[in-house]
Amino acid sequence: MYTAKDYTKLIGMEGFSDTLLNNHFTLYQGYVTNTNKLLDTFAQLKDEKTATPEFAELHRRLGWEFNGMRLHEYYFENLGGNGQINKNGPLAKKLAEDFGSGEAWEKDFRAVGAMRGIGWTALYQDSANGKLINFWINEHDQGHPASCTLILIMDVFEHAYMVDYGTKKAAYIDAFFKHVNWQAAEARLK
Ligand SMILES: [Fe+2]
Repeated sequence: MYTAKDYTKLIGMEGFSDTLLNNHFTLYQGYVTNTNKLLDTFAQLKDEKTATPEFAELHRRLGWEFNGMRLHEYYFENLGGNGQINKNGPLAKKLAEDFGSGEAWEKDFRAVGAMRGIGWTALYQDSANGKLINFWINEHDQGHPASCTLILIMDVFEHAYMVDYGTKKAAYIDAFFKHVNWQAAEARLK
């Protein structure tokens, strides 16, 4: 069973109201609760129930709830920083190597974030060749590259910004970049 983590240390972060953050923490806790509920249900289902639509739909649901939980943990953990990447560190070097420059990477990441739709913008490292790639994740579960390492993630569901920014998603993306915890992101690099 999973336990919801406490991210209240993010309260007070400029550009993110207390209301928005508290709502977001509540949503996150819901994913933890529902992941646990699903796992508990699977443990209790009797063998004769496995060939049912209920069994199939609950299993389809697990990827959504589990990723809703885990991606929020990665998101809150890569926030709360000062937005300054260590220019001589391995992540800055790798971004420049794989995207031409740090600015070119950021431009692409912001453009992916600005896409219409609800989901996540994710910087992944391909475990097969070490390359960094930006991905759009639809909702919580569609589009994750198999067996890759998540380096940085930005929530672009409407609940992540509308309370503070309305439809001005670009202003939210600016606020996100001001508070990226680059040390946390860099520590994920393989
Ligand atoms: Fe969210």
